[in-house]
Amino acid sequence: MQNRVTRRSFVAAAGTSAFAVLAQRKGFSAATEEKSIEVRLNREIGTIQPTLHGHFSEHLGSCIYGGIWVGRNSPVPNISGFRKAAVDYLKELGLVVLRWPGGCFADDYHWRDGIGPVEKRPKTVNIHWGNYTEDNSFGTHEFIQFCRLIEAEPYLAGNVGSGTPEELRDWVEYCNYPSGSTLADERARNGSPEPFRVRYWGVGNENWGCGGNMTPEEYAGHFRRFASFIRPFGDTRPFLIACGPSRNDLEWTRRFMENMHRRTMLHGYAMHFYSNAKAESTKFTPEIARAQLATFAAMEKAIQDQRALLDKWDPERRIGLLIDEWGVWDRISRDDEQRYGRLWQQITMRSATAAALGLNVFHRQADKLVMCNIAQTVNVLHSLLLTEHDRCVRTSTYYAFELMKPHRGRKSVVVENPDTDPLALSVSASVRDKTLVLSMVNPRVDTTISAKVSLAGGQADGGEARMLHHADMNAYNWFDKPNVIVPRPAKVEARGATVRAELPPLAILTAMIRLA
Ligand code: AHR
Repeated sequence: MQNRVTRRSFVAAAGTSAFAVLAQRKGFSAATEEKSIEVRLNREIGTIQPTLHGHFSEHLGSCIYGGIWVGRNSPVPNISGFRKAAVDYLKELGLVVLRWPGGCFADDYHWRDGIGPVEKRPKTVNIHWGNYTEDNSFGTHEFIQFCRLIEAEPYLAGNVGSGTPEELRDWVEYCNYPSGSTLADERARNGSPEPFRVRYWGVGNENWGCGGNMTPEEYAGHFRRFASFIRPFGDTRPFLIACGPSRNDLEWTRRFMENMHRRTMLHGYAMHFYSNAKAESTKFTPEIARAQLATFAAMEKAIQDQRALLDKWDPERRIGLLIDEWGVWDRISRDDEQRYGRLWQQITMRSATAAALGLNVFHRQADKLVMCNIAQTVNVLHSLLLTEHDRCVRTSTYYAFELMKPHRGRKSVVVENPDTDPLALSVSASVRDKTLVLSMVNPRVDTTISAKVSLAGGQADGGEARMLHHADMNAYNWFDKPNVIVPRPAKVEARGATVRAELPPLAILTAMIRLA
């Protein structure tokens, strides 16, 4: 049951930073705390690049096959083989950027297997994700077409582990060379006379692990060699992304950078940061939820530490830091995997809270990041959509992204939060055109937070808010109940120098505040 904070408890708590009103009165299931934070409207951090709200899809489980791609002759409503509901929902959300084909799969993917007439494409084995036979019916053209349909920018992850520099340079030419070369003409014969203009190129994935078990020195050598043969074609300048560390592995970064004596082709450096948990997604206890949600404080520290280390070689920040895989990775149930595919997990209110914590971190660290891609879009790990046969549901995480969407392209401003607890109220704020976008996430499973936000450098003149919340952290949207967790209008007081809102346990609130 949810807690309600009376005006009296609100006022009584004012002026204290962590005042606990033990509201275990009738009808109250959680304590209430008032938290005071300050938003400095005039202290800009940087622009929140829309690519911080990016995504990732791999040939894994039912993400591509059965999720995004159902095939042209499928009884499932589709647009040229792409699940229509997925196209509609993802386009509506605006995916910004989509990374493909892996993940681990990328370092054993040979792009030529996925072009040309479908019936002639070879059958290969997906050695990373269950040794199933991959018919390659979803290849480069299908991926680009999907990106065009949902209006996302494509990000191709190249094969360093089992591939060659020649193979990757040819893929770039095939995609981007306008016309006249054998590869460009082959692309045209395969249905795309126009170049794909792919800008983002990953040079390997997790090369410290599934991408070849390399040392940082070995990988740096591979990166330099592969990157040397990737060139701008037509009007497309490739943005080359190197494999960075798992979590905050500073040793990987230091040794990689020490071996990058030529860095002209290094544009991006991608860390992976998963938030694991010791429970299946619908069986979380408060303790397990706390442990997982606290990892987002560690992710924020990792961003700061990794950027500071990169700055030693790159003080002008020409190399952009990415997190190109992140999200919750709960204990995976074998039954669920058998039914829905590898790495399938349910997406609950707690999962959405985790997604929103991540996005708030990225907004606050907007000066240090150029792209972040949650893993993965459909039916795998921290999904936006879940599908089964012809059914498709938007998860709570989809709605967490929707609530955060107004931040895209705005200037992130400084939030002063005196509470340094890893489960402190999480706040991000951005401004443009006399509007402040304020997102607050309550990561506490048992405490309602009365948030008092003081504005420095401006005055509020009213506003509206929407909130995502469910009293049960293990609740989720399902095919027959798609609206269990959807954003609903919420109360926000925004007058003068103060904004107030109340967030029950595991709630995400975005307020659009008019600035006087
Ligand atoms: O997202 C699932 C897997 O996690 C990816 O294939 C790999 O890069 C990471 O370890």
